[in-house]
Order: sequence, then structure tokens, then C-alpha cells
Amino acid sequence: MRLLVTGGAGYVGSHAAWAAVDAGHEVVVVDNLSTGHRDLPPPVELVELDLLDAEGLSALLARVRPDAVLHFAARAQVGESVAHPDRYFRTNVVGSLNLLEAMRDAECGRLVFSSTAAVYGEPESTPIREDAAMRPTNPYGRSKRMVEELLEAWSDRGWVHSIALRYFNAAGADAAGRTGERHDPETHLIPNALLAAAGKRSRLKLFGTDYPTRDGTCVRDYVHVSDLADAHLRAIDWLEDGTGAAAINLGTGTGYTVREVLTEAAAVVGAPLVFDEVARRPGDPAVLVASFERATEILGWSPQRDLREILASAWEWHRR
Ligand code: UFG
Repeated sequence: MRLLVTGGAGYVGSHAAWAAVDAGHEVVVVDNLSTGHRDLPPPVELVELDLLDAEGLSALLARVRPDAVLHFAARAQVGESVAHPDRYFRTNVVGSLNLLEAMRDAECGRLVFSSTAAVYGEPESTPIREDAAMRPTNPYGRSKRMVEELLEAWSDRGWVHSIALRYFNAAGADAAGRTGERHDPETHLIPNALLAAAGKRSRLKLFGTDYPTRDGTCVRDYVHVSDLADAHLRAIDWLEDGTGAAAINLGTGTGYTVREVLTEAAAVVGAPLVFDEVARRPGDPAVLVASFERATEILGWSPQRDLREILASAWEWHRR
């Protein structure tokens, strides 16, 4: 298929773009390079364009005529979204609306959307199923939920059918070292832990030790970015015949505490990891663990890589 990958120069988007090329698809990447990097996607056409440029986007869809779109382009920092909600609603919601209008006009009817566990907010029970209440606690999660609602409306009209993939904690890097995580600033636990153990950044802060969990620190479900990429390819295949606006969790069903991740990270780097225990980070739920039954049922997907492989691949990427 001919695929348009928005945000294909970013972390998850570049892994999916490589996976699509590996699977024999023809790929065009569109990215405004605000947080993406030119050297992360595969060597395919990279169009430098902002999704807020509705005219440019329409012209691009009319020219490329993709069979399906993988939509990653978005702002994705929870903390920043609290400080600047306007930016999040504009980029994530208006940008997606522009894309959906351009797809409708170009009669491109298939979309895979990069959504997030943040649409759920503080869960009532765990593991989280897709039919759990959605009460996002920050503008980032709200903006992603709003796009899911646009997708439902587009599907109801028969314009675009879609699958929203709700990632839990994306981590790790391409096994071949072709792309990996490069955020600035980096806020995520795994890269920060690896770089701290390697002495490449200042001491790590462990946010909150008084959560009601087995060791007092937050529990998260870390899912390998290459497993996420694989799910996108399965979603495209499903959309060849499938209709509707599905929403599917992508996680492993296994949660690790922050302390457990730090112990494993130190083992992978082979150096002790010193950290400071500090107050909770506002907005962090105690436990986020996915039920991935629906992903198995609809996509035949299950995670293939564990925490050790996540840490080893991420460390290999950062070490290089
Ligand atoms: N943490 C630390 N120190 C750090 C970084 C993180 O202790 O330097 C802790 C956090 O408090 C949290 C855990 O490590 O308990 C994981 O934090 P991350 O920042 O790596 O990931 P989050 O769980 O906060 O974020 C993820 C996704 C977001 C999504 C969010 C939903 O990256 O896109 O889950 O809550 F919005």
C-alpha cells in the first residue's frame, strides 16, 4: 500500500515508518520537524509541512493519494499541556481535523491514530479495558480523546474508518539501531534512568514513594516501540475490509514499579544508579496497566518483547 505517515520523524512514528518500509509498503512522511528529526525516518520522501497548513495538506493528499494514513503528528508532553493547553488543542485537535477533512476530500478512507492511555485518566480498576470510563486529567489526554470523537463522527458518515491505538508507556528502540528515542527535553523514566546510570545526565529524581503500590512507587506498563509499530501494520490490514472507529489498548498487561525499572536499568548499563527520592509529580496516577485482549481479538496482536529487551535496545541506542 501507499501510506502517508504524519509525524514520521518522531519517536513512535519513525519506528512505524521503518516497519512499513520493511513490510514492503510505499511510505511518504510528513512532519513539521518541530520535535522530530530528519535522520530518524527511513530514506523515503519527507515533506516538511505543518498539519495546521490546511491548504498544503489538501494538496499533499491530492498528490500522494495514499491508501491509508498513519497519524502520529502531535504534541505529546503532559506537563507542557497543562501550562499551554491552547497549543495542545490547536496542534492535536485542529491539526487532526485538517487531516480528516483533507482525507475525506481526497477519498482516502483509512486511518490509524496514535492515541494514549492518558484518555482514561485515573483508572477505577486495573488492568484497564477499552470500555473503562474516560476522564482524562490533562489537556494532552483531552486533546487525544477529542480526536477519537472526530474519528467516530467521520466513521458514522462513512468518510474515514479508523483504529485509535491507545499506547501505554512506549519505550525501547529499533533492534537494528536505525531509529530510537530522542526527546528534548527528555521527561520519560527509561531514557532518563539509562543516561543517569551511564553518568550522562544529572542524578535521577524518583517522583513519589508513598503510592499504594508494592514498593510505594508508580506502576506502569512499558510496551516496546517495535511492538507498537507492528500493531500499526496489523491495523492497516484490518482496515482493508473493516469499518467503524475502533479503539484498542496497546500494553503488555504487566506493570513494573519505578524502583523495579531502576534496578533493571542499572543492571543493563552495568553501573549503579543513584537517585533522589522526591515528592510526587502532579497528575501521575498510581497504577496504569493495560488489558490487551481486544488487540489480540481484533488484530491478532500480543507483545513480543519484555522489559529487559526494552531496556537493552534503548541502552544500545543511547550508547551509540
Ligand atoms: N518518573 C520518575 N522520574 C523521572 C521520570 C519519570 O520517577 O525522571 C516516574 C513518573 O513519576 C512515573 C513513571 O516514572 O511514575 C513513568 O513516567 P514517564 O514520564 O516515563 O511516563 P508517564 O507514565 O508519565 O507517561 C505516559 C506517556 C504519556 C501519557 C501518560 C498517561 O508517556 O504520553 O503515560 O498518564 F500521557
